Amino acid sequence: MGKLIDGKALAAKIKSAVAERAEDFERKCGRKVGLAVIRVEGDPASEIYVRNKIRACEMCNVRSFAYVLKAETTELELISLVGKLNNDSCVDGILVQLPLPEHIDERKVLAAISPEKDADGFHVVNAGKLFLGEKGASVACTPLGIIELIRSTDESIEGKHAVVIGRSNIVGKPIAMLLLENNATVTVCHSRTRGLKDITRTADILVAAVGKKQFVTADMVKPGAIVIDVGMNRDDTGLYGDVDFDAVKNVAGYITPVPGGVGPMTVAMLLKNTVDGAAHE
Ligand code: GUN
Repeated sequence: MGKLIDGKALAAKIKSAVAERAEDFERKCGRKVGLAVIRVEGDPASEIYVRNKIRACEMCNVRSFAYVLKAETTELELISLVGKLNNDSCVDGILVQLPLPEHIDERKVLAAISPEKDADGFHVVNAGKLFLGEKGASVACTPLGIIELIRSTDESIEGKHAVVIGRSNIVGKPIAMLLLENNATVTVCHSRTRGLKDITRTADILVAAVGKKQFVTADMVKPGAIVIDVGMNRDDTGLYGDVDFDAVKNVAGYITPVPGGVGPMTVAMLLKNTVDGAAHE
C-alpha cells in the first residue's frame, strides 16, 4: 500500500508557525492580524468551510470579522461591503466564499477586493502575477497547500509529469501554474479530454480536482504515483473524494485521504496568506 500524506498533521504544523508570526505582529503593531470572511447564504457546504476557516483564525491568533449575508443580497451591497473592508485598517485579508448566488457576478466581486488584501489569490492581478511568475503574488490556498503536500513526500517535483484533472480558476489552473513553476511537465485534462486514462497513467503526480465522487479508479493510476485528491463530494452516505481511495491506495506511492488531506491545508494556507499580507504592509 502507498504511504498516506497526512494533511491534517502538516496543516497543524503550518498553523502553529503562523500563530507565532501573528503573535509577533501583535506585539509589534499593537493589534491583531485581521481576516474578513464573507459568506452569502445558499450553499450548505460553504457554511462548513467558513466555520473551519473562522475556527482556524482563533487557533492562529488572527482576528476574524465574519459576515453572513442573506441569499437575496445584491451585487452592489456585497461590493460595497468589500469596499468598506478594503478601507478598514484592522482588516489585512478579505475572503468572499464561493460559490455566490447566480444573480451575483463573481468576477465583479473578486475584482472589487484590493489585491493587497486578497487572501484567496483570486483577484485578476494576483492570478496574472502567478501566470507571469512574478514574486509577491497572493496565490490561491488549495494549490499552495497541494504543493506543500507534495513536498512533504520528499520526492522532487522537477522533471516529473504532473497531470491535473480539472481546469477551474480555484484549483486546476493555478495548480498547473505552480507545478510548472516547480519545473514539472504539466498536462491539464478536463471533461472534453480524449483518452483520459492513457494520459493519467503516465502521471508521476496526479491531481484530481474534478468534483466527481471516486472518479479516479485504480486503472487510471501509474504504480508509485503521488495522488492528490482535491474532491469534497457529499451525498447521503458521506463525504467522498474524487479518487476511489480504497482501490487507488494499493497502486499509488503516496496518496492524500478525504477528509484529512487537501482540506486542512487549504485552511492553513489561507491563514499563512493573511499573515503574509499583514507583514507586507
Ligand atoms: N470555494 C471553494 N474553495 C474556495 C476557496 O478556497 N476560497 C473561497 N473563497 N471559496 C471557495
